[in-house]
Amino acid sequence: MTDSLTIRRPDDWHVHLRDGAFLADTVAHTARQFARAIVMPNLSPPVTTTALALAYRDRIAKVAPAGFTPLMTLYLTDGTDPVDMAAGFANGAVTACKLYPAHATTNSAHGVTDIRSIYPVLETMQAIGMPLLVHGEVTDAATDIFDREAVFIERVLIPTLRDFPALKLVFEHITTKEAAEFVAAAPDNVAATITCHHLVINRNAIFAGGIRPHAYCLPIAKREVHRLALRKAATSGSAKFFLGTDTAPHLVQAKESGCGCAGIFNAPNALESYVTVFDEEGALGRFEAFASENGPKFYGLPLNEGTVTLTRGETVMPARLPMGEGEIVPWLAGETMNWRFAGAEG
Ligand code: DOR
Ligand code: ZN
Repeated sequence: MTDSLTIRRPDDWHVHLRDGAFLADTVAHTARQFARAIVMPNLSPPVTTTALALAYRDRIAKVAPAGFTPLMTLYLTDGTDPVDMAAGFANGAVTACKLYPAHATTNSAHGVTDIRSIYPVLETMQAIGMPLLVHGEVTDAATDIFDREAVFIERVLIPTLRDFPALKLVFEHITTKEAAEFVAAAPDNVAATITCHHLVINRNAIFAGGIRPHAYCLPIAKREVHRLALRKAATSGSAKFFLGTDTAPHLVQAKESGCGCAGIFNAPNALESYVTVFDEEGALGRFEAFASENGPKFYGLPLNEGTVTLTRGETVMPARLPMGEGEIVPWLAGETMNWRFAGAEG
């Protein structure tokens, strides 16, 4: 049995660092495990221009430890300026653009109302090789919440890729068998991130003995058949799937509410959670590629030089952690984890 695993330092290809009072805490948790992170732009107001992305990057840099690199993204709106976007990409200020369909999730009211309204932007992105990161859910009230991702593939993703066949596209936080199969069968310019929570819970977790706000995120967890398909995809060895936690903190009172926010805060224990899944699937040998190689190769970035070590051994996850001026209930709160993060080097 493997009791200790040392892998190349991983990156997190999908994080919500927030801003203001949360920033020092979110950055510390993510930077402890990951060398780089794709920073999502759904602040309020959202990060819609290169200038706003640079200002946000400076605020992150002020609280970040040495060696942590935030990779900035722009929040696409119906009014995104392709010239500003291309200039930001060319000078390294921004790495990718995020597509939130309007009203899909937290702070997405400014999102894109119809993908065709950003076709000139997609044309530019395809031409310059800038990745489009997609929150893949339709938002019309007539579509059942559990079907929103699968319907998005048919209604938006397939037509968009037909019109922009060379567009680099990351289908973010996939939650369905349909999405895993779509990405596996797509050409190499299409990839997906998978969260640790969607590999661990199915939708029953949201209703286990009562309503469980800390298991609520978007896209919402689906049936068991989908969780199993995600585990198969993540551990398959395919270079199209890589680590993206979608760590998304909300204070305890914002989750435990009559209208609780969507999001799971897994930055403190993401690697422990992912490695447990790979261990259970008999795929520890494929963990390094998923966590540390497939992402940078897709983004065209160098692999990290340092390492992290994970060891087998029980740890109880705290019930709450400090976050800004409040508290947060982290992923796997109060549960015993069977792998430990033993530290990063280099
Ligand atoms: O659960 C989620 N939380 N899903 C998202 O897409 C956004 C995120 C957030 O920002 O809270
Ligand atoms: Zn997200």
